[in-house]
Amino acid sequence: MKIKVSRRAHFNAAHRLYKADWSFEKNDAVFGKCNNPNFHGHNYELIVSVTGEIDKETGYVIDMKELKDIIKSEVEEAFDHKNLNVDVPEFKTLNPTAENIAVVIYNKIKPHIEQDLELEITLYETPRNFVTYCGG
Ligand code: NI
Repeated sequence: MKIKVSRRAHFNAAHRLYKADWSFEKNDAVFGKCNNPNFHGHNYELIVSVTGEIDKETGYVIDMKELKDIIKSEVEEAFDHKNLNVDVPEFKTLNPTAENIAVVIYNKIKPHIEQDLELEITLYETPRNFVTYCGG
């Protein structure tokens, strides 16, 4: 029997969506206001879910304190109050869309949890727009 446990987290960050090898006009056509050269911010809401068997000894899938600390060190300290394009190495050449941010978060957290646990990242860029990534 597998069960999913989740923890919610939050960070504020700025970004700009553009491709350096496209003209401003093409970037404007594809990304609209998100291509603002002066950047803009979002209040990102993050839900990190871990699915696995309940440990017979502890009764846990994962110690939530441990998950909290991983999210803090890998996501909050790396992204909160940062300009994703400028301050975060992963986005030097990767467009910081919600999709790409979710994949980066997945790849940062995955090595820190037991291999037999499944990881799922849901990232809200706005209250209405969110993406989910489960690896693969
Ligand atoms: Ni944006």
